[in-house]
Amino acid sequence: MNVILINGSPNSHGCTYTALEEVSRTLQQEGIDTEIIHVGNKAIRGCIGCRKCKTTGQCVFDDLVNETAPKFRDCDGIVIGSPVYFASANGTLVSFIDRLFYSCTADKTMKVGAAVVSCRRGGNTATFDELNKYFTISGMPVASSQYWNMVHGNSPEEVRQDLEGMQTMRTLGKNMAFLIKSIRLGKEAYGLPEKEEHVFTNFIR
Ligand SMILES: Cc1cc2nc3c(=O)[nH]c(=O)nc-3n(C[C@H](O)[C@H](O)[C@H](O)COP(=O)(O)O)c2cc1C
Repeated sequence: MNVILINGSPNSHGCTYTALEEVSRTLQQEGIDTEIIHVGNKAIRGCIGCRKCKTTGQCVFDDLVNETAPKFRDCDGIVIGSPVYFASANGTLVSFIDRLFYSCTADKTMKVGAAVVSCRRGGNTATFDELNKYFTISGMPVASSQYWNMVHGNSPEEVRQDLEGMQTMRTLGKNMAFLIKSIRLGKEAYGLPEKEEHVFTNFIR
């Protein structure tokens, strides 16, 4: 069982990383393999809506998105971490996950998702909501914690002082591991839920 953790921050060892590392360490203690993937320090362009991925199964821009797609396909869970920029996820991360979730056509049903956000002061819940929507449009159960998954700070030292935030990360790791193990058993016992063919109506009758 394995989880990939996406660090959207340009600071590869900053506040977001500090939170993700705590989740990662806890997952490992629970017997889950982890990999932290740094996204925010790369030049990741946005989706151009060409839909080529729907025929090729890959994004036309052959970068970290296509490199990560097989890891996303094979993982049991994904944690998406973002610093808060103007009360939203940071731009590079959004470009990355728009393209990853759109182009990766592998079935995401029952992969466990979790969002983690890091802010100095505000905009954290809006960012948390923004990130959770990638999971809830993809048939992915969302792992939760004792509080919304957020830490406060402008430096890793400050984040480590956010004792409740760090505990929230550890609780998230434990809950996510439990969910992944339970889903593994559930899949063996019952299989994945049957799917209807997707109906797209674009609000036009
Ligand atoms: C462009 C930019 C916009 C930011 N906007 C916010 C914000 O809206 N609210 C907030 O609390 N902090 C904001 N911050 C501060 C970061 O979210 C905060 O320091 C975060 O913990 C940094 O995480 P990192 O070290 O992983 O990059 C902003 C920082 C930058 C660079």
